[in-house]
Amino acid sequence: MTRKAKLLCALLLSPALLLAQGAPALKSGEQVYRETCVVCHGPGLANAPRPGDRQVWGKLMAEGQAVLTAHGWVGVRAMPPKGGRNDLSLEEFARAVAWMARESGGNWQDPDARLLERIRAEEGKRLEQLRKSGKG
Ligand code: HEC
Repeated sequence: MTRKAKLLCALLLSPALLLAQGAPALKSGEQVYRETCVVCHGPGLANAPRPGDRQVWGKLMAEGQAVLTAHGWVGVRAMPPKGGRNDLSLEEFARAVAWMARESGGNWQDPDARLLERIRAEEGKRLEQLRKSGKG
């Protein structure tokens, strides 16, 4: 390659490289759990379901991944919306829920686009319920 061609390549590639670096990588479920959820879910504060408690998680998982994730995301009783972290994306939050479920004998996977859509739909239903009951 000539010097001129190399320079041209570098110029063309640099914005793509910058973009690739600039896009924040999604955190893993375990990472999110350790940074945020562990504070309450580790010790089981105010009855927060502890990862590894198969009995409690068995019942929770029976609600289904979309429903349970949406309810945690919206907040339920002493569980603050988004675990109190407004900068978390739904996908990251859902990964943390799936991770806790796996730690407790479940086989929930990180959500794909289709599951994320279903969680959004459940979130909408939940917000509507809360609005109707005068709590939202
Ligand atoms: C400030 C404490 C606190 C933090 C932080 C917290 N939780 Fe919770 N969470 C709770 C409590 C308490 C409950 C039990 C609520 C109840 O059933 O009364 C709960 C329940 C849940 C449930 C079950 C919801 C249901 O429908 O029963 C899910 C799912 C959940 N949390 C996910 C998470 C995730 C994921 C994170 C981290 C991103 C997180 N929580 C961070 C306190 C917390």
